[in-house]
Amino acid sequence: MEGLEMILSRRSIRHFQEQPLKEEEIHRILEAGMAGPSCVNARDWAFLVVTDRQRLIQMAEANGAPAEPLKRAALGILVCGDLKRAFSGAKEYWIIDASIAAQNMVLAAEALGIGSVWLGTWPQMERVEQQRKLFDLPDHIIPHSILAFGYSSKEAIGEKILYEEDRVHREKW
Ligand SMILES: Cc1cc2nc3c(=O)[nH]c(=O)nc-3n(C[C@H](O)[C@H](O)[C@H](O)COP(=O)(O)O)c2cc1C
Repeated sequence: MEGLEMILSRRSIRHFQEQPLKEEEIHRILEAGMAGPSCVNARDWAFLVVTDRQRLIQMAEANGAPAEPLKRAALGILVCGDLKRAFSGAKEYWIIDASIAAQNMVLAAEALGIGSVWLGTWPQMERVEQQRKLFDLPDHIIPHSILAFGYSSKEAIGEKILYEEDRVHREKW
């Protein structure tokens, strides 16, 4: 699919086929995550890759009811920030860097014909703590978001809002 068309037509997918993803597909998705820009090129992220069904269910439960789709996904990636690598002048850039990595992975999946949904973790600290506990993460690794991936089993529903002129201000507010 052409790049721009892919961005414009992407929808969150919450129902997945049983079919597992190929290791090359998982690698391509991770590669796209690591291809994003990061502040001072700190590359201050880490990715926890999960395909085991029981683990996916535990991960979903640790993220609250809105993470239900993860229970049916073929792959879950916990996107984390790595504070040891973050820019020492403004460590909070890790949040932006992790967001970019996550969106790159969503778009890479789209390009491969794989559906995904972003499941928010940070800044809901109870979710952050639950994921930290589940995976026994070291203190400098902060859970940021979960991405659930898989081949779609159902068309996404709802109308996609695209361009809204009133969000755009030209030259002055
Ligand atoms: C930070 C963030 C957190 C989100 N958390 C959830 C979530 O917990 N559960 C869910 O089903 N979708 C979640 N989403 C997906 C949004 O609901 C979805 O992107 C939005 O409704 C627009 O739909 P679209 O992605 O199909 O364009 C999240 C998206 C973002 C960016």
